[in-house]
Amino acid sequence: MTELDILVVAGDGIGPEVTAEALRVLELVAKQADIALRLEHQVFGGASIDHHGVPATEALLERATEVDAVLLGAVGGPKWDGVAADKRPEKGLLNLRSRMGVYANLRPAKIFPSLVDASPLRRDLAEQVDYVVVRELIGGLYFGEPRGISGEPGKQVGINTLTYSEDEIRRIGKRAFEIAQQRQKKLCSIDKANVLECMVLWRRTMETLAKDYPDVALSHMYVDNCSMQLVLNPGQFDVMVCENMFGDIISDEAGATTGSIGLLPSASLGDKGALYEPIHGSAPDIAAQSKANPLAAILSVAMLFEHTAKRADLSRRIEAAVAGVLADGLRTGDLMRGDSTGKKLVSTREMADAVVNKLSLR
Ligand code: IPM
Ligand code: MG
Repeated sequence: MTELDILVVAGDGIGPEVTAEALRVLELVAKQADIALRLEHQVFGGASIDHHGVPATEALLERATEVDAVLLGAVGGPKWDGVAADKRPEKGLLNLRSRMGVYANLRPAKIFPSLVDASPLRRDLAEQVDYVVVRELIGGLYFGEPRGISGEPGKQVGINTLTYSEDEIRRIGKRAFEIAQQRQKKLCSIDKANVLECMVLWRRTMETLAKDYPDVALSHMYVDNCSMQLVLNPGQFDVMVCENMFGDIISDEAGATTGSIGLLPSASLGDKGALYEPIHGSAPDIAAQSKANPLAAILSVAMLFEHTAKRADLSRRIEAAVAGVLADGLRTGDLMRGDSTGKKLVSTREMADAVVNKLSLR
């Protein structure tokens, strides 16, 4: 692709800071590769509630279905905690994902060699972290109907529904099998089939699909055991596929084991268009203090080059630059763990400057 239309929605909290740095990397690498960028910016999440009264305007949602990719920062913050559930900043994000139809959320977790000491895991375990969580993103417990809170005060009932059709399970399953084919050919499907009927169907459907992918070894694991295995024996995983909320939970755990959730990018793919966002949230406690780690946002740009621009080579260059600055000892606050000899505490901008410098030396 020699031209890219990108909608940028930086959002709230640290979203604007990390997105600004990611855009510098996007613009530099696109220029070096002769890719013409057309960037549009729109307010989103809490910022959009303040401007427009809704977390995502109809115009934004519509435009998101037309562009090649959406680059997102983060949404939410204490300022909007009192807002009604259907108008919260998070609802804007869920509407965006759903409207774009991006059902497959890829969350790769891989330890950078120089960060092994920053992981809370023992060195020999931390070194093994290298897998992809494929999270179903527009169904399951987040979207199931019926939902809501009803009844008299004092006797109210809250309800959410876990529901998946075979079609929904098949389309996410296919993506996961295809990703496994590109990697170690090992797919672990995460479920709770010992308790939930919906997950019995999930497991059955994955079993049926497996017949179409004889080169991939499919295994199954209950989600509670999975959360334990991720810290006991992370090396056993290659590609995992799971329900929306299970994926939300285990990908935070995955982030922590790589040293910081501030490192994990994500790509959300559907049949057309794509959404790229760091998996960390808006971190309101450190917003506007130049403390945020921009690397997850920068690595999300790397994923954009791979999946939207079909330029895996550019993606690898960005990853190498990130690995390089970490090897040089640069650390944002979230990574200042373990032995700090030879480490330099840097700001959001300084970290991104270092990545940009590495990428400028060709
Ligand atoms: C994530 C986030 C979101 C989610 C929130 C902000 C709605 O935690 O992307 O993991 O739950 O999907
Ligand atoms: Mg999450």
